[in-house]
Amino acid sequence: DLPTRVRIHEVGARDGLQNEKATVPTEVKAEFIRRLADAGLTTIEATSFVHPKWVPQLADAEALFPTVADLPVALPVLVPNERGLDRALGLGARRVAVFASATESFAKANLNRTVDEALAMFEPVVSRAKAASVHVRGYLSMCFGDPWEGAVPIPQVVKVCRALLDMGCDELSLGDTIGVATPGHVVALLAALDEAGVPPTALGVHFHDTYGQALANTLAALQQGVTTVDASAGGLGGCPYAKSATGNLATEDLVWMLRGLGIDTGIDLGRLVATSTWMASQLGRPSPSRTVRALSHE
Ligand code: HMG
Ligand code: MG
Repeated sequence: DLPTRVRIHEVGARDGLQNEKATVPTEVKAEFIRRLADAGLTTIEATSFVHPKWVPQLADAEALFPTVADLPVALPVLVPNERGLDRALGLGARRVAVFASATESFAKANLNRTVDEALAMFEPVVSRAKAASVHVRGYLSMCFGDPWEGAVPIPQVVKVCRALLDMGCDELSLGDTIGVATPGHVVALLAALDEAGVPPTALGVHFHDTYGQALANTLAALQQGVTTVDASAGGLGGCPYAKSATGNLATEDLVWMLRGLGIDTGIDLGRLVATSTWMASQLGRPSPSRTVRALSHE
């Protein structure tokens, strides 16, 4: 069975841009977010309040966030620690995301912490956010494979998911950071999570498209009851701290599939394609999304 409605969590402005070498001007990012909202996206991850040396592209978070804060959409932001939370709350953010890792190697590379030290770092972030009635998403990276450790055992993923939920996260997002998942693995992980008391309704899926499996993996997750899907307009993206990660599932490819399945998203595909084509011209290279390419040649 497929859901009748899917919520798309748009990550282009954060996951999509964080890996860009050349600095994208703040006004271009703001325009990108405004156009995404205008195309009908309702959850648009805006930026990250991380250490500016770790992700220089998003060092303008303080300048950017207030320029889009008035949009009638949810604008989650990434916060790794209390310093990040202070910065986000100071600007009126109402949704934040912490980001854990299922593997020790990536926890070290991305957060300079062990898995448990990172969870300890998130605990006061989540409790303070909840006390301020701020919605908290918990990302979990390397849910399928890790560039240093290879295939990631399912129980290891389940354990960190439980820890994030027990901490008080409102929803989780399962990250295939380097895009190595295949549909059978997705079904097996979702089944193990359900058995451990983490139902698909508490989950979003976050696929990178390195091996061209993102859309197939998403369909598998929808068939298991997941209704929140992360995607990046134009297929922008990659993670600076995970070698071999490419862009996320392209939002256009997702919308095209969902539309064909009769699943409502509320998105104007023409406006979205125009936005990604414009963004591609800003970045100086064509979008890798097949749907963007097909529709922009019409
Ligand atoms: P650290 O070096 O261990 O930091 O980095 P620290 O806690 O030791 O603090 C050192 C200094 O940094 C201090 O300054 C802090 O104030 C400052 P000093 O006292 O020395 O002058 N500092 C900060 N400044 C501004 N904002 C902050 C902040 N925190 C500390 N928030 C840290 C630890 C977590 C900060 C660092 O590792 C970091 O910023 N990491 C972020 C990495 C990142 O953003 N990665 C990409 C996002 S994750 C992703 O893309 C995966 C995802 O898409 C899902 C998937 O695909 O799997 C979500
Ligand atoms: Mg990602």
